[in-house]
Amino acid sequence: MSQQRDHWSSNAGLVLAATGSAIGLGNLWKFPFITWENNGGAFVLVYLICIAAVGLPIMLAELLIGRRSQKSAVGALKEAVTSKWPGGRKLGALVGGWGVLAGFILLSYYTVIAGWSLYYFTQTVGWTLGGYPADMSAGDLFNSQALNTGLQLLLSLGFSLGTIAVVYFGVSKGIERIARIFLPILFGILLLMLVSALGMSGAGEALNHIFRPNFAELERGAILEALGHSFFTLSLGMGAMITYGSYISRKHSVVKASGAIVALDTLIALVATVVMFSVIFSVAGMRDEVGGSTVGMLFISLPQLFYSEVPFGVVLGPLFYVLVALAALTSTISLLEVVSAYLIDERRLTRHKATISAGAAIFAFTTLAVLSIPGLLGVEGGGLLSTMSVPFFGGGKVGWFANADHFVSNWMLPTGGFFITLAAGWFMTREATRGELEDGTQPRWFHYGAWRFFIRFVAPIAVAAIIIAVVFGVDFS
Ligand code: PHE
Repeated sequence: MSQQRDHWSSNAGLVLAATGSAIGLGNLWKFPFITWENNGGAFVLVYLICIAAVGLPIMLAELLIGRRSQKSAVGALKEAVTSKWPGGRKLGALVGGWGVLAGFILLSYYTVIAGWSLYYFTQTVGWTLGGYPADMSAGDLFNSQALNTGLQLLLSLGFSLGTIAVVYFGVSKGIERIARIFLPILFGILLLMLVSALGMSGAGEALNHIFRPNFAELERGAILEALGHSFFTLSLGMGAMITYGSYISRKHSVVKASGAIVALDTLIALVATVVMFSVIFSVAGMRDEVGGSTVGMLFISLPQLFYSEVPFGVVLGPLFYVLVALAALTSTISLLEVVSAYLIDERRLTRHKATISAGAAIFAFTTLAVLSIPGLLGVEGGGLLSTMSVPFFGGGKVGWFANADHFVSNWMLPTGGFFITLAAGWFMTREATRGELEDGTQPRWFHYGAWRFFIRFVAPIAVAAIIIAVVFGVDFS
């Protein structure tokens, strides 16, 4: 049965859905932490350069490859590669399949972290109503929920079902509708938090730390970390944006949408970082406490500070975890859509069957991630899944969870991204890409020649540099 392809109903719908995919745990969880680890300023500047020089050109490439073929990752890349080289079907299919696999793995553990936001939402609601328990250790609370396997399965099951439910209803009635409702809420909550944070005593120092570059602090590995993160945060390198691009109709502009998505994603990452740093710098001694881990900042330091330091924290606390959950949901939706769209377009499943079977298969792997949480937290116990480490490709990490994250971030997204730059820059003809980008809807700032130079030379060389650096052992997961 041939099904009519669903499309975004408007440019705004497309921008909100794709921005929803981009804004996620990468912005709220990873970016503030790696900025912290890399001492702010200079790292942020390098990150912004990576976003502009590599992220934006690849965003344009993915959306245009999708829109041109009106097919999801595998079909679209097959078409792109064969446009100059008829024998290239296999390579195109392989790169697309690599992306689908990356989506599958990424979603399997991303859901677990998303589940923590649900837990902290219920906790903060309880604290707001009943008061923050004075004698509680935030670190112990985190560990005890994370190591409670039954609870973790329940939380991630809840999150998976939410994701499946949205994708089940399709592009315009499911994904776009949810993005239209949730993204404005997300922006609103973050704005409230920004206002509150800027009123705190540490705000000035936070802004300084984030925006004043000190190149003496910049370590070599930071450049690669910034580049790797620009793939993760913009949902690039695995076909999510190709798939979303395949639902763009002829009337809507790829260029305008790309500009808006990249700008919004970057803005939100910076705002989230300003908020978190303002809180941390306002509390004496908090700097040292945060030190340890990404998990620490979002789920251990912040919850308690809402009830002791943050103006209007009793309201903002629960809202903040709603924000994290919504941001994560609009990202998990896009990950599931990559896998489902593959099954629909290439395997001819109906949307309903595709969504449910992909969701169920991925959830089986989510249980592996849950079972390996002790390994992630460095706690004894948890068996093989918690102690496994994949030689070389796992970057010396321990446990299924950390190995999966390392493998996807350091290997799958950059290699996928590299081939996507080749597909758009070298395999597709100039006429084909030009026709997609300069279709009369493009904004004035856009220069086709500049994009082509970046996608043929700058982006692939930069990405190849990351891959080579990873081979020599730099970890930026
Ligand atoms: N961009 C998302 C984030 O920042 C993660 C993601 C990666 C989503 C790849 C889809 C595809 O959290």
